[in-house]
Amino acid sequence: MSANLATGAYIGAIILFILSLGGLSNPETARRGNLFGMIGMALAVLATVFGPRVTAAGIPWIVAALVAGGAVGLYAARVVKMTQMPELVALMHSLVGLAACLVGFASYIDTSHPLAGAEKTIHELEIYVGILIGAVTFSGSLIAFGKLNGKIGGKPLLLPGRHWLNLAGLLAVIWFGRAFVMAPEIASGMTPLLVMTVIALLFGIHMVMAIGGADMPVVVSMLNSYSGWAAAATGFMLSNDLLIVVGALVGSSGAILSYIMCRAMNRNFISVIAGGFGGGAPAPAARGDAAAQPAGEVSPISALETAELLKDAKSVVIVPGYGMAVAQAQHTVYEITKLLREKGVNIRFGIHPVAGRMPGHMNVLLAEARVPYDIVMEMDELNDDFPATDVAMVIGANDIVNPAAQDDPGSPIAGMPVLEVWKAKTSIVMKRSMASGYAGVDNPLFYKENNRMLFGDAKKMLDEVLGALKA
Ligand code: TAP
Repeated sequence: MSANLATGAYIGAIILFILSLGGLSNPETARRGNLFGMIGMALAVLATVFGPRVTAAGIPWIVAALVAGGAVGLYAARVVKMTQMPELVALMHSLVGLAACLVGFASYIDTSHPLAGAEKTIHELEIYVGILIGAVTFSGSLIAFGKLNGKIGGKPLLLPGRHWLNLAGLLAVIWFGRAFVMAPEIASGMTPLLVMTVIALLFGIHMVMAIGGADMPVVVSMLNSYSGWAAAATGFMLSNDLLIVVGALVGSSGAILSYIMCRAMNRNFISVIAGGFGGGAPAPAARGDAAAQPAGEVSPISALETAELLKDAKSVVIVPGYGMAVAQAQHTVYEITKLLREKGVNIRFGIHPVAGRMPGHMNVLLAEARVPYDIVMEMDELNDDFPATDVAMVIGANDIVNPAAQDDPGSPIAGMPVLEVWKAKTSIVMKRSMASGYAGVDNPLFYKENNRMLFGDAKKMLDEVLGALKA
């Protein structure tokens, strides 16, 4: 493939990636957006493999790597459950970071294109910054992976003087950067480069370890952004324009998503990155301190009684959460929705921005079950309507409907906007036990007078409710 054709293909791929991002911003166009992304990626891979910079001798290596990587990706896509997706994404981010580090070291020891003067300095700066971002992304993403799958506890690790430690790390990185660029030959530049890599790896671990469980959504999208910048840095090191543009697209869209998440959770972006947010005193549930549990008794309800309440309601709001995803109850939820709509009940879905375990998690599940988009509302569109709602049905959600976020300034989730289901005439919470949610915080909603608990697996309970509605 000629250089001109490869450049043309790269421009085509860039346009497709931008259209893909545009499409993904709306559920109705998301499928098309995905298709654009897939075509763009295929074009980008073909133009790179058959482009002017790859020699015939390199092709078998690339094909072997594509087959091995593709097989792992295919296997992971088939076995990973939807609820494990954030862990998989965190692991993939770590690979982007690792790739940036490896490309950085390879470019540094590669002597086939000797550079001199300003060009050499610029290239070395690209390598230094690329490895720095790559190492932070790599170790930070591995810790995020551990936190998301529960291998590492959600409690923030707050080292004494942690901000000073971070500042000292930053100053050391600048100092070693100077030593690296001034080094006369590769052997003497390698030491500052390796020291900086170790500092960056430690910084990545420290940054994510210091973040509390409830703020993990922000971390995941932030690491997504970092992985984009790591890819862009790799593009600079390899002088590959497509990688620079795509990396910048991922980096900036990830940064925008992090900002949106922070706004949704009423968090200050800088405070989340600096760590320690979502911390505070451990929640009573996490401490196992029975005396500190919210006072009061819970009122259980049966599936039959739930069906009666739904039948008599004029207006119903369903709030899905992580438990609906675990139980894979979305199809039964839609069956119930259809039935109630036929009976003239005004039924809508309230989606919290961080419901589930990844951005848009609930929207994807509801779209999969073919729930019409026009009855799926965002939290802000619906929160004022709860006082006029007869039944608010919470399916496997917990943190996102916790009134402590508004009432208890000492709560780790204080300030996070929540769906105010307790303002409905009756709220029904469907879950298996009194266990806390992801943030490990007790939920006073369960003890409210107008709240009922429907205990059991969400799918099983909803099947029973559906059966009773049909009877
Ligand atoms: P959670 O607060 O995690 O609550 C989910 C509830 O579902 C649990 O209390 C659990 O109670 C119940 N559950 C689990 N399996 C169930 C089943 N088979 N049937 C019925 N119930 C089941 O979820 P949420 O309300 O969706 O809030 C999301 C949380 O995750 C927030 O804290 C958020 O910050 C965090 N988070 C979000 C993201 C993104 S980007 N969305 C990423 C990482 C973390 P039982 O065990 O008693 O059944």
